Amino acid sequence: MDASTLLDRIIAAPDLASLDAARIAALGKSGQITALLKSLGGMTPDQRAVEGPRIHTLREDVTGAIAARKAALESELLDQRLATERVDLSLPAHETLRGSVHPVSQVMDELAEIFADLGFAVAEGPEIEDDWHNFTALNIPETHPARAMHDTFYVAGAGEPRVLRTHTSPVQIRTMMAQKPPIRIIAPGRVYRSDSDATHTPMFHQIEGLEINKGINMGHLKWTLETFLKAFFERDDIVLRLRPSYFPFTEPSAEVDVGWSMEKGRRVVGGSEGWMEVLGCGMVHPRVIANCGLDPAEWQGFAFGTGVDRLAMLKYGMDDLRPFFDGDLRWMKHYGFSALDVPTLSGGVGA
Ligand code: PHE
Repeated sequence: MDASTLLDRIIAAPDLASLDAARIAALGKSGQITALLKSLGGMTPDQRAVEGPRIHTLREDVTGAIAARKAALESELLDQRLATERVDLSLPAHETLRGSVHPVSQVMDELAEIFADLGFAVAEGPEIEDDWHNFTALNIPETHPARAMHDTFYVAGAGEPRVLRTHTSPVQIRTMMAQKPPIRIIAPGRVYRSDSDATHTPMFHQIEGLEINKGINMGHLKWTLETFLKAFFERDDIVLRLRPSYFPFTEPSAEVDVGWSMEKGRRVVGGSEGWMEVLGCGMVHPRVIANCGLDPAEWQGFAFGTGVDRLAMLKYGMDDLRPFFDGDLRWMKHYGFSALDVPTLSGGVGA
C-alpha cells in the first residue's frame, strides 16, 4: 500500500472504529510505517539520507491526518447526540406525563392561604421530638393517662428518649420559646401514632393553630374557627358546635363539631342535619404559658388542632385514608390537583 492509499483510508474512515483500524495498519507494531522505519537500519548511509526524511514526513502526515479525522468524527457524534437529545421546552407538556399536587399538599396550601389572610405565619418543628416538648411542657407529666391516649412511637438510641411527635402541639412550645408575643402561627406537618385502619394511618398530618396575645378569650377562638371553616369549605352555611372536652394543654377545652347535610346522597359539610367532630381546641393552659417562660397573668391565648387528611377527605370526598399514602398514580390522577391551580382567596382556595 502506498502512502496516498494510507492517507485516503484515514480520511475516508466512516467511524472511530475504522479509523482506529487504519491507525493500527499504519503505525501499529506490524504497521506499514513501522515497517518502513525498521527498514532504515538495513540501508546504506546514502539511501538513508534520502529515505529517512521521506519516511518521517510520511509518519507525521499520517499522524496529523488521524488526529484531524478523529476530531471531525467526534464532533459529528456530538452533533448527532445534540440533535437526538434536544428538548423543545416550548412544546406543550404531554397530558399523561404531567405531575399533580397531592390533596394533602393542596389542603396545606389552602390552609396557609386562609390563615395568612388572618395574620397567621407558618411555623415548623422537628418530627423526632423530645419527651419534654411533646408531653411535659404541654402539661402532660410522665404519669398522666393522656400519654397512653397517644399510642406513641419511641425512637431507640443513646441519651435522652425521643419520640415521633404524636401531634403538632409541640410547635406551640417551640414557637413560644423562640419568639416574643404577640404570636399568631399555624403549624402544619406530619405526626405519628401506632394506629391503622380505614380512617387511621401510623403517619398522618395535623395543623396546629396558636394565638398568644393580651385579653384573648373563647370568642376570638370561635370567630377564628368559624371564619377558617367557611373559607375552607367555601360555604356560608357552616354551623359550629363547641362541646366541652378535655386536653391537658388547654383550659377550658372544647371539641368542635360542624353541621353536615345530605347532598346527592353524599354527606357534605354545611347545613345542620347532623354533627361531626372536626377540631380540638381551647384556651392555652396557664401552666403551658408559664412552662415557656411567659407570665400567664399578662399573656393569654387559644390553640386548636385538627387533621389535615381528614379535612381533605371531608372537602374532596375520599372515604378511605389509606390510599393517601399508597403512591398509586391512578388515585393521584383522580384526586390530584394541577400544579398551576394555586389556591388564592380571590380565585377560590379549592380551585
Ligand atoms: N393536640 C391535640 C390532638 O392531637 C389537638 C389540640 C390542639 C387540642 C390544640 C387543643 C388545642 O388531639
